[in-house]
Amino acid sequence: MYQFPKGFLWGAATSAPQSEGAALKDGKSPTTWDKWFEMEPELFYDQVGPENTSNTYELYKEDVANMKAMNLNSFRTSIAWSRLLPDGKNLNPKAVAFYRDYFQELVDNGVEPIINLFHFDMPWWLMEKGGWEARESVDHFAYYASVAFEQFGDIVKKWATFNEPLVHIECGYYGDAHWPKVHDFKRAIQVGYHTLLAHAKAVAAFRESKYNDGQISIILNLSPVYPRSQEPADLEAAKWADHIYIRSFLDCAVKGDFADEFVALLKEADLAPVTEAGDREIFLNNTVDFVGCNYYQPMRVQAPEVAKRPISDPHDLFAPYDWPEKRINPHRGWEIYPRGIYDIAMRLKESYDNIPWYISENGMGVSEEERFENLDGIIEDDYRIEFIEDHLAELHRAIEAGSPCFGYHLWTFADCWSWLNAYKNRYGYYRVDIKDGFKRTPKQSSFWMADVIAKNGFSR
Ligand code: NOJ
Repeated sequence: MYQFPKGFLWGAATSAPQSEGAALKDGKSPTTWDKWFEMEPELFYDQVGPENTSNTYELYKEDVANMKAMNLNSFRTSIAWSRLLPDGKNLNPKAVAFYRDYFQELVDNGVEPIINLFHFDMPWWLMEKGGWEARESVDHFAYYASVAFEQFGDIVKKWATFNEPLVHIECGYYGDAHWPKVHDFKRAIQVGYHTLLAHAKAVAAFRESKYNDGQISIILNLSPVYPRSQEPADLEAAKWADHIYIRSFLDCAVKGDFADEFVALLKEADLAPVTEAGDREIFLNNTVDFVGCNYYQPMRVQAPEVAKRPISDPHDLFAPYDWPEKRINPHRGWEIYPRGIYDIAMRLKESYDNIPWYISENGMGVSEEERFENLDGIIEDDYRIEFIEDHLAELHRAIEAGSPCFGYHLWTFADCWSWLNAYKNRYGYYRVDIKDGFKRTPKQSSFWMADVIAKNGFSR
């Protein structure tokens, strides 16, 4: 029997831009996603854009009723910055009413809200000023955070500042999957620095707010890094990948500092970000109360063919490694490695002073999931049940070994929109039929999970 600690948070996660819909309704101003879809709709799978996400804006009461039926006791979503403050300054009363009602509905039904402030949805007006590249974005974000704490802090007691900051940095400034699709490592580093500073200033705003009896966190995608071999060159490659993907965010959020050798590496390459006097204290004084860890798959690396110094981009530090023994999700191509959850859990315990943490996302994306529908119209997602069970077993092992993990959230509750992939891959406990009024239908995994939650564990 895998029995979880008393009070363990069982839940699911989504975000405003991926679930609300109503992209330009009731005063919300456009984000980079809304504008990008307007400019290049053909890039989005089946040309489904952000205005067509799962319509939680209207259906949230139904979703909360379904969460209750599933025994969930917690749920994460985000606030859309451009809905709450369409021009960055003036409060939108309709947004306040919507979010207050949504969050209260959760609380009234025994589902604790964990509310995140930024989930890749940069307001367009701020993007036009340079987005996270512009230092002024830091203060705009801190202001938005202070307004959110003020408006909802009486209902919401667990907060997050950013979801997976690495992703908007990497996909927006070092890849093509987020606006502005730039390929420039130096600019990516500056964007990362401003994002982390905005995070720390939002933590400061939280500590100063009148409802500071809650807790604040950051949600990070923490894919443990495994080297190809124990050869020094592969170990060195893994060390740098770990600096970029894990330590730069975790050290900053939990310890308020950056690793000296990483800072020196950037300086030597003239890649260090522009900073201001006083920034260091802001980081040091504003660390988090807990961490959210999104875990999907590990990162496997090997030494690059030529290790160049000074570096001009991460490929000078490490190369991807295709582990021949990996188990793959046949429906999406991602590696499935439950042991990674144990390793990251122990890392948080051992290297981050026992910081309380939870799995803020884990899950399995599946394409054309209707294939698995049975005669009663229920999707028999046994592969998802197996995936969750395997990961929970490893998480349980880490908890037994003393890792202070207090919850497990699946991505996602009801199938939601996945950026450029739109509705290509489905992740939810509930199916959403976008062609049939966004109708929700439970999948087999939701019944299985309801039982796990009722027993606070499972046996196999
Ligand atoms: C991470 C992100 O937080 C979310 O936006 C995304 O859709 C899921 N993982 C699935 O890839």
